[in-house]
Amino acid sequence: MPKADRQPYVRTIFVCINERPPGQDSCGGRNSRPLQEALKAHVREKGLAKKVRITRTLCLGQCAIGPNIAIMPDNVWYHHATPEDIEEIKALFIDPLP
Ligand code: FES
Repeated sequence: MPKADRQPYVRTIFVCINERPPGQDSCGGRNSRPLQEALKAHVREKGLAKKVRITRTLCLGQCAIGPNIAIMPDNVWYHHATPEDIEEIKALFIDPLP
């Protein structure tokens, strides 16, 4: 069976929002959800929802250094992501898209 060759988005940005019980490392436990919401709102404001997908995801396997954000297909990862990193992601990976 042939693989689909259509790429629906230029970029997909995965933001881990996984939560674990208190005392265990998790991105959700480090307040990652507002980071995801800020990216999503920005993409909507810019009218780029058909080009950039902001995706909430569960564990990316890097729990101890979260919040984690993975940008594909660039394969750029942000660890310990902060609101300042969100501004950088907007400037580097979202706003330049035509
Ligand atoms: S909980 Fe986010 S990488 Fe594991």
